[in-house]
Amino acid sequence: MPHAGASLVPGSIKTKSEFWAHVHDQLEILVGGQRHWVSNLSNAASLIYNSLQAFPSNFGDGERSVNWCGFYLISSLFPQPQFTDASMDPKSQMHASTNMLLGPFSGRPACQWIEVSPRPRGVCGDAFVKRSTVLVPDVSAYRGHIACDGDTKSEIVCPLILRKGGEDIMLGVLDLDCLAIGGFDADDQVGLERIAALIIRSCDW
Ligand code: SME
Repeated sequence: MPHAGASLVPGSIKTKSEFWAHVHDQLEILVGGQRHWVSNLSNAASLIYNSLQAFPSNFGDGERSVNWCGFYLISSLFPQPQFTDASMDPKSQMHASTNMLLGPFSGRPACQWIEVSPRPRGVCGDAFVKRSTVLVPDVSAYRGHIACDGDTKSEIVCPLILRKGGEDIMLGVLDLDCLAIGGFDADDQVGLERIAALIIRSCDW
């Protein structure tokens, strides 16, 4: 099957649990070839986003579905310049330490930096410091929500935690937005946390 076919959702899939199990299994196949996070997270964002687009009746209000799926990752994971000298660029200096930078995503353009230290910003920053999934049924009622897209009504953010040598290392977050209020529920949280675990163990960090 061509790679794009991974985001098709068979008509036999009716429930969210079945849907997330299907997406998980498709992703496992897609990320099987290599372990670079840029490539694997790119396909993960596209697969989740396009699968949700293909299965709208169970998300949001059926008419207004998911509008963004992507990753924010700690800035130290990103490649350092090899061919230019960015050391004097104030934009490079400003965002050192553990702030998150926009990673692979599907959807409209989004904010590039999300601060986690000294003060966490937005739903993403909160999920990062709490190290647990944050489910937001109505973003207008969430203090500090970062509105990258004024059309977004609800959101879920799942942390990416690498467990290594008895230590939990925060890598970033997986963020999904929906155009309807109450777009995500506990089934989505279970499905996304399982996918986050697959993503973490499928890449070299
Ligand atoms: N709404 C997020 C920011 C990222 S965008 O939704 C793509 C937040 O409050 O952290």
